[in-house]
Amino acid sequence: MTVNSMLDLKDKKILVTGGAGFLGSYVVDVLKKRGVPEKAITVPRSGKFDLRDMFVCKKVVQGQDVIIHLAAKVGGIGFNREHPGQLFYDNAIMGIQLMEAARQAGVKKFVQVGTICSYPRITPVPFKEEDLWNGYPEETNAPYGLAKKMLLVQAQAYRQEYGFNAIYLLPVNLYGPGDNFDPQSSHVIPALIKKVYDAKKEGKKSVEIWGTGKASREFLYVEDAAEAIVLATEKYDESEPVNIGAGFEITIGKLVEKVCKFMGFDGEIRWNRLKPDGQPRRMLDVNRAKHEFGSIAKVDFDKGLQQTIKWYIEKHDKQYI
Ligand SMILES: NC(=O)c1ccc[n+]([C@@H]2O[C@H](COP(=O)([O-])OP(=O)(O)OC[C@H]3O[C@@H](n4cnc5c(N)ncnc54)[C@H](OP(=O)(O)O)[C@@H]3O)[C@@H](O)[C@H]2O)c1
Repeated sequence: MTVNSMLDLKDKKILVTGGAGFLGSYVVDVLKKRGVPEKAITVPRSGKFDLRDMFVCKKVVQGQDVIIHLAAKVGGIGFNREHPGQLFYDNAIMGIQLMEAARQAGVKKFVQVGTICSYPRITPVPFKEEDLWNGYPEETNAPYGLAKKMLLVQAQAYRQEYGFNAIYLLPVNLYGPGDNFDPQSSHVIPALIKKVYDAKKEGKKSVEIWGTGKASREFLYVEDAAEAIVLATEKYDESEPVNIGAGFEITIGKLVEKVCKFMGFDGEIRWNRLKPDGQPRRMLDVNRAKHEFGSIAKVDFDKGLQQTIKWYIEKHDKQYI
């Protein structure tokens, strides 16, 4: 493991944009567990602090030592197809302005959270950070993935020209309790859980799933992702991007089988092949994260999935279990 100096977060003022969101709330919890006092953590909510506005960005960075920039417009494949403009503009403008405001304000460290959606459509598995620029992303992800990838360019350019300590992380698809289950914008795991839950409740004998089931994905439990982000904040100060993942691959078909099994649904799965699969395969090489800051995913996928299902069911219908 590379020996990097450790940034003690306990006496730092930390801005966590998107800190009330799915991943953000877990990052805030990890920071608190590290001993960062609650009053030293600021979470600017979008209703009051719209980070698409440069004036707001300049305001929120004042007096901060560290910024973990998680605020983003995100969604699953359907949302990506419907809102490519918003996904491009919001994600690019928030990041570009916030990083510039942070640089001007003399912030000591800026952690930009990117996405696996920035990788080229066809990337050899496992995806290595060196492969990031070897092609255009899968088209439904491209506006989101490329907007975020520009923030890697910005981070590297700012380090080179201004010595600004910006790092860039690329998390894989996340899942866990607290995920977004809104069918308009949810990712694949919450979307499947909700579909199967609704089918059971309504006594349906089948569920329809988008695509062929042949595409593969990697999933990282949200707690592991939050721990990795805080570890990188403490220990990583280099310009190269770092994958954050669990280092395994599962087809959507197998994932559906697991969800149905864990939820006790034995109805028919109808694959709607007219709907897109998205990127054909996804799995990250996670060696750099392990080597540079000792990040290792701990939560077993089956356990994490069962926890997520349990959380959703308990939240929505205590009678159901
Ligand atoms: N979920 C995943 O599978 C995944 C995978 C890889 C990377 N990521 C990255 O992880 C980060 C967090 O994702 P998430 O899934 O936790 O998303 P999320 O739950 O939707 O959280 C995103 C947060 O961004 C804030 N936000 C959005 N627009 C804003 C604006 N104009 N001004 C200020 N704040 C704004 C929202 O704050 P309010 O609550 O105040 O509205 C929201 O809570 C994102 O950068 C995403 O790209 C996520």
